[in-house]
Amino acid sequence: MSLILGIESSCDDTATAVVENGVRILATWTSTQAVHEKYGGIVPELASRDHLRQVLPAVRVVLERADVSLDEIDAIAVTHGPGLVGSLLVGVSFAQGISLARGIRTIAVNHLHAHLLVHRVHAPDLEWPVLGLLVSGGHTELVRMDGPNSMRVLGATRDDAAGEAFDKVGKLVDLAFPAGPIIDRLARGGDPDAVSFPRAMLKPSGNLDFSFSGLKTAVAQHVRSRMSAGGRPLAEDERNDLLASFQEAVVDVLVKKTVLAADRQGLSRVVLAGGVAANTRLRTELEAELRTIGARLITSPPELCTDNGTMVAVAAEQMIRAGTAEPVRNAEPNLPVCRP
Ligand code: KG4
Ligand code: ZN
Repeated sequence: MSLILGIESSCDDTATAVVENGVRILATWTSTQAVHEKYGGIVPELASRDHLRQVLPAVRVVLERADVSLDEIDAIAVTHGPGLVGSLLVGVSFAQGISLARGIRTIAVNHLHAHLLVHRVHAPDLEWPVLGLLVSGGHTELVRMDGPNSMRVLGATRDDAAGEAFDKVGKLVDLAFPAGPIIDRLARGGDPDAVSFPRAMLKPSGNLDFSFSGLKTAVAQHVRSRMSAGGRPLAEDERNDLLASFQEAVVDVLVKKTVLAADRQGLSRVVLAGGVAANTRLRTELEAELRTIGARLITSPPELCTDNGTMVAVAAEQMIRAGTAEPVRNAEPNLPVCRP
């Protein structure tokens, strides 16, 4: 039996979990930092200070809930990058501290691999190779995965990440941060065909990169023109139509490129991962479109798509089994999916 304590502190969530054998979640805890809401984005200095306050209680609570003591833990898995350096350092130093004090090994986990591998907790026998679509606040990547430590980026965003686009558009219409889940909900009451927003980089066909900054500008221009026409903020119906149309443009591009990548690579299993993978419209559309080419979509419940401690523990278990687990040495804020 293997018991892994997972610690995630790369951005604004202090998240922990205890996972048994990479498949059984004994306990999980996430404290999301409300302190950034009023700034409309994450303030790095405030994030690291809050991690410092949260990390010890977050570890204690999962050990208690899992009913295990530190002495029973086989490994402490911790995110070492990418992310905000101050935030990463809190988790990394904390893990190293316990490791020294208790003689428990640490395992360095790439945050992006953790997102891409968390599905193994409920699909442990899914055969490789798999196509991964990673969509989060900082990343939009199509990744060919031939194993837990064998990944190749097929396409990536050239500017904003998908989640970043959701958050910036939310700011334009005065939604709280992060706006992704709010837009998801409000868009259900809007018409996705109300405004025709650009779908960047769909042509020339065959390109697997993304670009979302033009879409964000188009939404900003639309909001400005509507406000100057009416001289007041958008009415609720109009705002929901705008958000549904924006979301549709993002989903449309993500779905088309993923289907193209799966088809071209001959991959029939597609994993949807990262915070934006919680988006209901994206999940439904991607599943339906993949079915048309005989491919299957594997997603995790929304709480395992956004940042969490389980994904760190699950990725570490995969690395132990593959013989590629390494102890944590330092924070690596710019760690890529794979080194060139
Ligand atoms: O993976 P994640 O929790 O953190 C990063 O590693 O970035 O992703 C956070 C991003 C945010 O931009 C947030 O707005 C977005 O995921 N997000 C969503 C939804 N839930 C979270 N975007 C669209 N629809 C959602 N339901
Ligand atoms: Zn993340």
